[in-house]
Amino acid sequence: MLTEALLSRTAPLYERVRGVVPAFEWPAFAGDVDAILELKRRRNAVVLAHNYQTPEIFHCVADIVGDSLALAREAATTDADVIVLAGVHFMAETAKLLNPGKTVLIPDARAGCSLADSITAEDVRALRRQYPGVPVVTYVNTSAAVKAESDVCCTSGNAKAVVESLGVPRVLMLPDEFLARNVQAETDVELIPWRGHCEVHERFTPAEVREFREAHPGVVVLAHPECPPEVMAEADFSGSTAMMQDFVERERPAKVMLLTECSMSDNVAARHPEIDFVRPCNLCPHMKRISLGNIRRALETLTHEVTIDPAVAAPARRAVERMLAVR
Ligand code: 13P
Ligand code: SF4
Repeated sequence: MLTEALLSRTAPLYERVRGVVPAFEWPAFAGDVDAILELKRRRNAVVLAHNYQTPEIFHCVADIVGDSLALAREAATTDADVIVLAGVHFMAETAKLLNPGKTVLIPDARAGCSLADSITAEDVRALRRQYPGVPVVTYVNTSAAVKAESDVCCTSGNAKAVVESLGVPRVLMLPDEFLARNVQAETDVELIPWRGHCEVHERFTPAEVREFREAHPGVVVLAHPECPPEVMAEADFSGSTAMMQDFVERERPAKVMLLTECSMSDNVAARHPEIDFVRPCNLCPHMKRISLGNIRRALETLTHEVTIDPAVAAPARRAVERMLAVR
């Protein structure tokens, strides 16, 4: 039963999402939001939320929000005892690698990623045998076991800088084929890709972008580099989710289309009601496993705790730390 007191306590939080969460939906969220804020205080916990989390999580209970790179950086500096990762499993593993002594929780342990599932540690070992001496750059969207077989990690926000930091003519760039091909267009380093794809971004097509441009004249198109290169060719700008957000903040286009996961537009739109968001978007079923309900449960019961075999964690941590040292 919702009390007047609870609704008035959470009213300022509702103001943050008023533009994207209908008023009739708020009572369904208010109780969990209120409980999560109290549990965070009690547990000395922080909630890290990726840009693809739904607005009531992103704007109302998260302490730190951002792209994969920002979440990794911030995870390395928090002094909380408990970290709840509102995102997918590889992000929680990265947070744990950087905080071996802290409790890192993922609210739903099944929150995976098609890219992380596309490659195994044995695949990386086989590639090393096939390309002796060629360094391995691995997207953070991978398991700790795959990171452990890699020289250095990257995200969509720093991939070109990481590849070029190695000072070599040839690099294995795993596992996102499209990210590798998109970075290839910007660097002279030869990139050898793997065959992994993001199931969300691979679904966008150039024809779809052209149709939306025709229907919405003047729309500015931003694409995530996990999209196929043919889609990127139709875009006005490309970058990680944080780079897309920065672009919108900086340029304030009247009409914008973000070729990425659906909650991204909602989260930026919540802060910019004056901007018209054209929304062909695809949902990530893994990101959508996280809810206020399971964040609350995670904090109440301290589940699901992320653990990593120490033999895997040490080399995986090295690959992540090398990435963080690049930029
Ligand atoms: P970034 O937020 O780093 O751009 O990554 C996007 C993504 O698909 C994460 O799963
Ligand atoms: Fe993985 Fe794509 Fe979902 Fe990100 S959006 S978690 S890359 S499947």
